[in-house]
Amino acid sequence: MKLYTTISSLQATLKKEQGKGFKIGFVPTMGALHEGHLSLVKQAGEMTDIVVVSIFVNPTQFNDANDLANYPRTLDADLEKLATQRCDYVFSPSVDEIYPVPDTRRFDFGNLETVMEGEFRPGHFNGVALVVSKLFNIVQPDKAFFGRKDFQQLAIIKSLVLQLKLAIEIVPCEIVREMDGLAMSSRNKLLLPEYRKCAPAIYQSLMEANEFSLDRSVAEVKEFVLNTVNGTGLLKVEYFEIVDDRTLIPIQSWSDTGIKVGCIAVQAGKVRLIDNLIFNINHK
Ligand code: PAF
Repeated sequence: MKLYTTISSLQATLKKEQGKGFKIGFVPTMGALHEGHLSLVKQAGEMTDIVVVSIFVNPTQFNDANDLANYPRTLDADLEKLATQRCDYVFSPSVDEIYPVPDTRRFDFGNLETVMEGEFRPGHFNGVALVVSKLFNIVQPDKAFFGRKDFQQLAIIKSLVLQLKLAIEIVPCEIVREMDGLAMSSRNKLLLPEYRKCAPAIYQSLMEANEFSLDRSVAEVKEFVLNTVNGTGLLKVEYFEIVDDRTLIPIQSWSDTGIKVGCIAVQAGKVRLIDNLIFNINHK
């Protein structure tokens, strides 16, 4: 495994690999790696010849300066974890390397960027699109791997690839959870013990909501999730929506067509957690 910090050195190496006909798999991350990230790296290793992982805390996707300042930065530990996987190249550039001048591009993802996360984190998805488009351009991968936990981000990335007509296959990867059900996230390590203790209530309520959806209306299920999670006394729901998985438009009734996904964001003290679940009950 080799570490690169400059675009030119990484590209020189990748050009040689591509010249040999090797397919490049790319896992973009912001570091503070956990089992969830490692599962993406593993999948990339199974589906492509060369695995590139980027570690870059992207300032343009943070709409809160404190959140950016507090975001965990653990490069040495990250490299140790990646060394346990089939990871060929790590790209860990400086902010100046990625943004030598301000990037003023403005993407338009329509409804996909205004609902849910978009409402609470204005500008976030534009920042994600800025950095991912740059990283795609630098790495030129054949396949890129993204976790389903960031469900809305996945929809944005798919739209980005279509808009820019990139020949990159986006591979969605399953959510990896702690033993108690909490979705793995780099932010989990920032949770104070009392919040960590009640955080599994998020996934628990999503699973119960899925069951309850058999004989309750959409509005009742939404109310149930709000009451259960807020009922912990510590967690505070920012939003809970049940949306169509392609349009991200909230469904009104179980008879609406399409795959239905329950998406939640929760404030756990100073830490913001998101999770989602595909509602897989067959409603008559
Ligand atoms: O999901 C993340 O970690 C980030 O949003 C990404 C895709 C690496 C872009 O900075």
